[in-house]
Amino acid sequence: MKEGKAEIEIFDGVFFNPKMRGLRDISVSYAKANYGKENNVLDSTSATGIRGIRYYLEANLMPTFLEINKKAYSNTIHNLKLNKIEANALNKSIQEFASSYDGAFDFIDLDPFGSAAPYIYDLMKVSKGNTRLMVTATDTAVLCGAHSNACFREYFSIPMHNELCHEAGLRILLYFIARNAAQFNFGIEPELSIANMHYMRVFVKLKRGSSEAISSLKKCGYVAHCPNCRNFNVYEQYVKAKEKCEYCGGKMLIYGPMWISNIKSDEVVEKVIKNYDQDYDKNALKMLELIKEESNAPFFFSLPKITKSLHIGSVSREKVVDELASMGFEVSMSHTDKNSIKGNFGIRDVVDAVKKVYASKA
Ligand SMILES: C[S@@+](CC[C@H](N)C(=O)[O-])C[C@H]1O[C@@H](n2cnc3c(N)ncnc32)[C@H](O)[C@@H]1O
Ligand SMILES: [Zn+2]
Repeated sequence: MKEGKAEIEIFDGVFFNPKMRGLRDISVSYAKANYGKENNVLDSTSATGIRGIRYYLEANLMPTFLEINKKAYSNTIHNLKLNKIEANALNKSIQEFASSYDGAFDFIDLDPFGSAAPYIYDLMKVSKGNTRLMVTATDTAVLCGAHSNACFREYFSIPMHNELCHEAGLRILLYFIARNAAQFNFGIEPELSIANMHYMRVFVKLKRGSSEAISSLKKCGYVAHCPNCRNFNVYEQYVKAKEKCEYCGGKMLIYGPMWISNIKSDEVVEKVIKNYDQDYDKNALKMLELIKEESNAPFFFSLPKITKSLHIGSVSREKVVDELASMGFEVSMSHTDKNSIKGNFGIRDVVDAVKKVYASKA
């Protein structure tokens, strides 16, 4: 199997998902965009070793591989030989490695089965200021609120189970990382966050210092959402969150804690796009371009949910965007919902624009 500059073989029973190629392309481009001389990377859940091998061949990073499973570990070793790479590969768990290793990595890739939660604390032990964490979670049902108790137990947060659940899931993952980082005197700066298909992936830069840690914790808070009119408000403190919707008078539900500040850096996303090879997956590039245009305002409005709450038929997204633009707003789309509008406007503006567009249709 060829992917990027790597050529790998996949042993029977060892995990490899070709559909994650685009996400690996993005990760390699992110590493290239943030590459410093002689940087190293920990491929902490290596399986076939595809990620570490690609970081080495395409982004010039020196990889170390961890793999708990014996067969997968020998698959990594096999692929290292195939690609003529001499690197450190250990048949060890993240937990065992992190408690004895006394170095730190510039980049860490975590790509576990399911939840990322059990590994974050240990990975902080092999991190330093400016370490870039690239973390995947595939327990999206948990982060998206299908199992609210599981999310509370694992990520210590109440998840959303509505149109905003994917963005909320990313924000819960970031909150969880920020809390663990703070114990090690790190703050976090999210540089890129993606929710797509069955996965969530965040790219986070660690910033050393207790004031950085505190400032990150202050960027975590709560979100009140109205299931009746789809209004939402973001709060730094739980006690300040209002239960009564100021728009429709309905009862708002409160979710969190979660990261309520920016979930990407526009500058970094631009650099990732610049470093994206033309042979890489085209759909993943389209998603990056969508993310680049996405407003940094937290959350968004889903048009079908708005028209449903107004008991009217569907409206054209384009026309609503034009209407809001003529009202002076900058309008973007959430990459998690193609029929959304996202920006610095509130429910009143959205309802006005939607009603106007609907009336002009009639
Ligand atoms: C989803 S696969 C990784 C896929 C790979 N990164 C890719 O892109 O193809 C997760 C791997 O993590 C390994 N693993 C599970 N728990 C681990 C742990 N505690 N420490 C290290 N590796 C672990 C599993 O054996 C499995 O091979
Ligand atoms: Zn309401």
